[in-house]
Amino acid sequence: MSLISKMKDVEMPLRCETPMSWGERMMAGDKLALLNDHAHLEKKAGLNALEMLNRWPEPVPPEAWVQLMCGVAKDEVEHLAIVCRILHKRGGALSKSHRNPYAKGLRDLIRKGVASSQTGLVDRLMVSSLIELRSCERFAVLGECADDDKELGKLYQGLWASEHGHYKTFLNMCYQVPGVSKREVDERWNWFLDEEAELLGRQGQYMGMHSGI
Ligand SMILES: [Fe+2]
Ligand SMILES: [Fe+2]
Repeated sequence: MSLISKMKDVEMPLRCETPMSWGERMMAGDKLALLNDHAHLEKKAGLNALEMLNRWPEPVPPEAWVQLMCGVAKDEVEHLAIVCRILHKRGGALSKSHRNPYAKGLRDLIRKGVASSQTGLVDRLMVSSLIELRSCERFAVLGECADDDKELGKLYQGLWASEHGHYKTFLNMCYQVPGVSKREVDERWNWFLDEEAELLGRQGQYMGMHSGI
């Protein structure tokens, strides 16, 4: 069964699908640039999990919050090491800086203000979840398109399930935030899914996991 078929068997609520042509373009382009972008995303995902670790809602952290965040951070550091190893083996090097307008666009949607600390937390968790979900989808597409590059094919196919687990972890945590009802979480998630699709549609074409279609 192909990765894309497997993807259709699991929950994948994205509102816009990445076409195979995107993956083919990535595989035909500068792979060192793609790997460098990917490595930075893994690093940022790890840092985000550590940042979320003690942002649990007052007065007590929901069950397993800290352990779950530690687990995500550990996974992301492992992914980072794997991607960096391949990048270096191919003659590339991790750049000092990195921009991700897609992630920034999502973060800009997080509600701010004193009265919205719980809702802001839900937004943060949803942004984390969406980035994982889109990355998961992109890995599946790349995994399908990497026939001529077995090493990268194995990399993307190996990461796909982990990112799907992270997407679920962050989304499930939204429902544990006290003071925010299930209906509010559902509505906000629906809103974020629409926004994410619209934001992705505005991304430029570059060598990167969250580049435009
Ligand atoms: Fe990762
Ligand atoms: Fe992840």
